[in-house]
Amino acid sequence: MNTSAENPSVDQLKAKIQNRQARIGIIGLGYVGLPLALLYSEQKIQVTGFDIDQRKISTLAKGESYIYRITSEEIQAAQAQGFTATSDYAQITKMDAVIICVPTPLNEYHEPDLSFITDTTHSIAPHLRAGQLVVLESTTYPGTTEEVMVPILEKENKDSLRAARGTEVGAYEFFVAFSPEREDPGNTTVARRDIPKVVGGLNPPAADLACALYGTIFNRTVPVSSPAVAEMTKLLENIYRCVNIALVNELKLLCLRMGLDIWEVIGAASTKPFGFHPFYPGPGLGGHCIPVDPFYLSWKAKEWDFRTRFIELAGEINTNMPYHVLSSVGGALNRHKKSVNGARVLVLGVAYKKDIDDLRESPALTIIELLQKDGAVVSYNDPYFPFIGKGRKYDLQMKRTELKDLGQYDCVLIVTDHSDYDYKKIVQEAQLVVDTRNATKGIKSAKIVHC
Ligand SMILES: NC(=O)c1ccc[n+]([C@@H]2O[C@H](COP(=O)([O-])OP(=O)(O)OC[C@H]3O[C@@H](n4cnc5c(N)ncnc54)[C@H](O)[C@@H]3O)[C@@H](O)[C@H]2O)c1
Repeated sequence: MNTSAENPSVDQLKAKIQNRQARIGIIGLGYVGLPLALLYSEQKIQVTGFDIDQRKISTLAKGESYIYRITSEEIQAAQAQGFTATSDYAQITKMDAVIICVPTPLNEYHEPDLSFITDTTHSIAPHLRAGQLVVLESTTYPGTTEEVMVPILEKENKDSLRAARGTEVGAYEFFVAFSPEREDPGNTTVARRDIPKVVGGLNPPAADLACALYGTIFNRTVPVSSPAVAEMTKLLENIYRCVNIALVNELKLLCLRMGLDIWEVIGAASTKPFGFHPFYPGPGLGGHCIPVDPFYLSWKAKEWDFRTRFIELAGEINTNMPYHVLSSVGGALNRHKKSVNGARVLVLGVAYKKDIDDLRESPALTIIELLQKDGAVVSYNDPYFPFIGKGRKYDLQMKRTELKDLGQYDCVLIVTDHSDYDYKKIVQEAQLVVDTRNATKGIKSAKIVHC
């Protein structure tokens, strides 16, 4: 018979997962963790969510949602399947599998801030039980799972449990894997369960269990040989985006100077049926991933005496884009014999990309700050944000302005091309429109300045 510290067999746990009898704990109920909890609940698997944010816990307890695209009805449907949320880590011991989805930002020196992962791991360790599966989903540099998370779990659990390594599974072991989140917020063309899930286990049984865990909610799992390969896979995907966006951003600047329309060029190049994937220019990178994740790798690379030059160059170009927007607004106002100083500017769209309610790292915030610094009187409109308060790097304290009387502004600056906007009407009413996203495509007007 198993003692509390002994493993149920791998087959027993796998069967429990496949029969939807396993209890799953999801730590970090943000943009990644909450939808994941709902996916498991939809499959009638009992989920306990863990978060340190009491407001989230109490909102969920009331059957309400705090993420725009998740409805209260979805939360209530999950609750009917046993979904609860708590900040009590003692509940971890009841879980068969634990998935960690906490933030991985950069600190003020642009270095990885793993404090959320380490805090979470310290909180889990005392409640760890033999035979549990622990999966990290947070995006991070290769080695985090094995070098940072596993040593804390091994050192701080009460039963001297070890992470299972090799092919044999001992009685006093737990399982560890890394599986990156690949969600594309706002993308409605691919169902989340159709996005293949990459899984790297610390040993083959851990990989097998993690594949079973994700196999209940994803149509395809892609096992790789280690957590580090899975960690690097996610970074490759995001660096690929970051570098290609920088490439089109740089080519956009050249096209503007040459009088060519980069959007037309990209459209034409996209007709090539092989070897070309379109990326689009914009006012700068935003979101929790693309502006942040590549620097996790460039930091880690230094340990290996290696400089990741593509990442640095892409970072330089992308970081410069809000400054380019500022100078374009200045140039456009200048043609109207006005200056940025004292100009009334309405920023349209502050989310980091269209049709989502996420402000993190949004270039709009930098652009607003730059405009204000140069003396512009800035207002904004965004259907998703009635208020912009304080974030990690900004403190704007602005209230949304209604979308009316556009003629009163010296410049309407389109930063995020939300679908809700009627761009034709906006151009008609405005004195001057600076468009960073090609939102006014097809509208002919001397008032429009592309940037
Ligand atoms: N948002 C995305 O589209 C996306 C896509 C792919 C990958 N990722 C990655 O997934 C991870 C999570 O991102 P997110 O967007 O969900 O972040 P988020 O900030 O929306 O949510 C994280 C949650 O973790 C909670 N938390 C922080 N510390 C905790 C702790 N010690 N214990 C319990 N809860 C804690 C926070 O309160 C918050 O609710 C990050 O590594 C991110 O890079 C995000």
